[in-house]
Amino acid sequence: MNKKNILPKNFLWGGATAANQYEGAWNVDGKKASTADMMTGGTHTIPRRITKELEKGTYYPSHEAVDFYHHYKEDIKLFSEMGFKCFRMSIAWSRIFPNADDKTPNEAGLEFYDKVFAELKKYNIEPIVTISHYEAPFALTEKFNGWESREAIDCYIRYCETIFNRYKDVVKYWITFNEINSLLVPAGAYLAGALLVDDSGRFNNTEVDSTQMRFQALHHQFVASAKAVDLAHKINPDFKVGCMINYSCGYASTCRPEDMVLALRNDQMNNMLCSDVQVRGEYPSFAKRYFEENNIKINMHKDDEEILKKGCVDFYTFSYYKSHVFGTRPEGDETQGNVFGGFRNPYLKANDWGWQIDPVGLRYVLNHVYDRYRIPIMIVENGLGAVDVVEEDGCINDTYRIEFIKSHIEQMKEAVYDGVNLIGYTAWGCIDIVSASTGEMKKRYGFIYVDKDNEGKGTLKRSKKRSFYWYKKVIESNGEDLSI
Ligand code: BG6
Repeated sequence: MNKKNILPKNFLWGGATAANQYEGAWNVDGKKASTADMMTGGTHTIPRRITKELEKGTYYPSHEAVDFYHHYKEDIKLFSEMGFKCFRMSIAWSRIFPNADDKTPNEAGLEFYDKVFAELKKYNIEPIVTISHYEAPFALTEKFNGWESREAIDCYIRYCETIFNRYKDVVKYWITFNEINSLLVPAGAYLAGALLVDDSGRFNNTEVDSTQMRFQALHHQFVASAKAVDLAHKINPDFKVGCMINYSCGYASTCRPEDMVLALRNDQMNNMLCSDVQVRGEYPSFAKRYFEENNIKINMHKDDEEILKKGCVDFYTFSYYKSHVFGTRPEGDETQGNVFGGFRNPYLKANDWGWQIDPVGLRYVLNHVYDRYRIPIMIVENGLGAVDVVEEDGCINDTYRIEFIKSHIEQMKEAVYDGVNLIGYTAWGCIDIVSASTGEMKKRYGFIYVDKDNEGKGTLKRSKKRSFYWYKKVIESNGEDLSI
């Protein structure tokens, strides 16, 4: 593209993290176990386990993670060196309400975020706060089976009210739930819904049909999200509250009309159902058909529809890592992804974890979403999980990561030229953190390397990768200079 200065001057460049993958200090200053704290480490081939009790001698990666709790000053300084305009982070709900239904919040937990926001302000970095990012107090699971129960709505709203009031002068952008659509698939039951699906110790056992329970939990999250939006606007009319979708871009495998309809169905169900509810304030008609055909009965309270209508989000955010194909394909041609899968696309390459790399798909998605909703959009996750090598002189030459992000930024600019109102881009895992799907440290996304391995060993020392200097230049030039 040869059009200059395509991105708005106030474009929000930055990076993104999540408390459960980043903070550590899992039982410090009044915090108690979160759902994430009960997940063991895993690998590409060995799935993470979810334990009901902590097991002696078992490694739980979130317990220390990379210890942002004690490194926040150092890390935020590094973000500011890269020129970050914003920083997406989440608040650990279990730090504020350790028992889920506490009558009063944990003051020490609130103070930690006071300090983090003050530090961000010092460097003029705008916080973008996810209220619940794959994390809830584990007590919510134990007491109410997570989001299956309506009680979760009250607990969540009490938490929202606390943090909205406490941080009303320092945080403007809020996201109600990370990748809310993960609840549509069994793998998201525990991760996104804190649901104990069965009693076998593998809570998110995919062999147990949790569909009805997941849709009910999702409904509760929709109501909670809508109530949070309404409350946020009452507490501070300047607040901007967004939804967050794990966008699973899916193409038809052939131009066979049936394949097109399959791809359309995937798009409607996986991508659009949740944002239709959160942006437009009502369930789309295709969801109603799906419920009818699959005998799913959502237990709705009489004023839920009105609540959903009153709580429409101000902006749309999503994560974008990969794309898939749907339709006629040979058997055994599945590909991987974070939560959602699909079939392999012969035109694309994949990363080491099998996620297909598709920058052009980002332009497609941005146009598609903007055409549908016409509200501001933010890309809040994008990046390449890869194995980094520290060379003898200490350098980390992650050119592959630079190439990945460069190609996505190029397509993002094309989309802005197409007319999409895009307000920000936050690269996922701007500093190395624990992987959500595998619990590994080996799968790194950062511009900043953290010395820690899959077994939890390492000094936690931070070092700048080659991509650190590249991203700094990109931000400085507002996306004009992408040269490697
Ligand atoms: C998104 C999540 O699904 O993908 C993040 O919001 C996650 O929490 C990211 O870390 C990348 O996935 P993974 O499994 O590589 O960490």
